Amino acid sequence: MLNIVILAAGMGKRMKSDLPKVLHGLAGRPMLTHVLGAARALDPARIVLVVGHGAETVKRHYERDTDLSFVLQQPQLGTGHAVQQAVPELAGGETGDDVTLVLYGDVPLVGSATLRRLLDTQASQPGAVAVLTVELADATGYGRIVRNASGSIDRVVEHKDASAEELAIREVNTGILAVPTAALKRWLGALKNDNAQGEYYLTDIIAMAVADGAPVLAAAPDHEWETLGVNSRVQQAELERIYQRTQAERQLEAGVTLADPSRFDLRGTLTCGRDVFIDVGCVFEGTVELADGVAVGPHCVLRDVRIGAGTRVAAFSHLDGASVGADARIGPYARLRPGTELADQTHVGNFVEIKNSSFDTGSKANHLSYVGDATVGARVNIGAGTITCNYDGVNKARTVIEDDAFIGSDTQLVAPVTVGKGATLGAGTTLTKDAPAGQLTLSRTRQSTVPGWQRPTKNK
Ligand code: UD1
Ligand code: CA
Repeated sequence: MLNIVILAAGMGKRMKSDLPKVLHGLAGRPMLTHVLGAARALDPARIVLVVGHGAETVKRHYERDTDLSFVLQQPQLGTGHAVQQAVPELAGGETGDDVTLVLYGDVPLVGSATLRRLLDTQASQPGAVAVLTVELADATGYGRIVRNASGSIDRVVEHKDASAEELAIREVNTGILAVPTAALKRWLGALKNDNAQGEYYLTDIIAMAVADGAPVLAAAPDHEWETLGVNSRVQQAELERIYQRTQAERQLEAGVTLADPSRFDLRGTLTCGRDVFIDVGCVFEGTVELADGVAVGPHCVLRDVRIGAGTRVAAFSHLDGASVGADARIGPYARLRPGTELADQTHVGNFVEIKNSSFDTGSKANHLSYVGDATVGARVNIGAGTITCNYDGVNKARTVIEDDAFIGSDTQLVAPVTVGKGATLGAGTTLTKDAPAGQLTLSRTRQSTVPGWQRPTKNK
């Protein structure tokens, strides 16, 4: 039975923020959410979050996650003290097979493959403790892994407690470790705080394990960056870049062309078909699916969007909660809002906003329009400056434009209203009643010319 304890009580003073550190974002989601993702992939019996600073805010953020239990650590007397608070929530411990894995809420990039290797290492010998370690060129600040003459781990010494000789050790404790639950409870009970920081160090259980004859084994992460923690905005920004670089590489490996992998930001999941092209400065959020041959121009934002094969999205377009068919042309400067469904071969041009509306095959709105709450048939042409007046200040109403209609420029469609099949609306029409199919409807005043009119001249 696997327990996972995530330490998230620290203050994060160097973030200089009112928001608890673990709620600060990485790729658009709190750091702690990333850690939870890696934790859940291991299918644990329990996930215990140790909260302290900003505890209420953290709890509220995850109140719908019924698989989490929260324990409060107040005050924060060290990592060992933090895990002690979680003990009443730990499942199992009656059999030697039960294991507790300790993670940090501010080490967000740790991957489930690395954690699985750590757990496998722990399980490789009965009663073993497994520690995730890395060798760093600069180990400043980290706990050092002290090994004996035969090379096995003896203990961990914190930077502030280390001798000059120990400070020269480059193998460091990442803080992530897997321990048999029953032994963990015993060792935690014996922790003391007689050290340079006056804290209860979780790392002291390593020497206790050795004293008890338990094997202490090291495992290495797939990537060193998985073990990096965030204590400042600078480190947060560094981890963001690492994360985005790995996401960009994943897209490249899947066959996507990125104009510049260092100017690609994914804050969710992006699934691409073959021969997709993505220009610089795009942001992808939520769930985005791009079919074969889709091209996205520079500086577009796509959030929860599905786009069909061969469609081109030109520069500076903003698509949110929309689906677009195949061989469509969107943008530049198009805005598709939630509920927009565009069929194949549709065109939406510059400064066109569409909300909660559908366009059937081949329909176009190429310039400067607002289409809201409308059902648009096939092969409809919506002229420049067309506005659906869908809101009377209280209620929203629908506009229906049937197949092959032609909407002249600068037209207002005062909903609810229907434009019949093949109807034409003259430019400048304010449509307040349905327009019959196949006929020209217009509401503008007849043009007139005043004979003999002369421009006024300046008074002498
Ligand atoms: C800890 C390790 C050190 C390791 C380093 C890796 C100990 C004693 N030392 O040191 O060996 O090299 O991490 O980054 O474990 N936390 C709590 N409650 C507390 C104290 C800490 O929840 O009372 C949380 C923090 O929010 C943080 C994590 O535990 O997420 C680590 O705490 P931190 O103070 O950064 O530990 P270090 O001193 O860096
Ligand atoms: Ca730290």
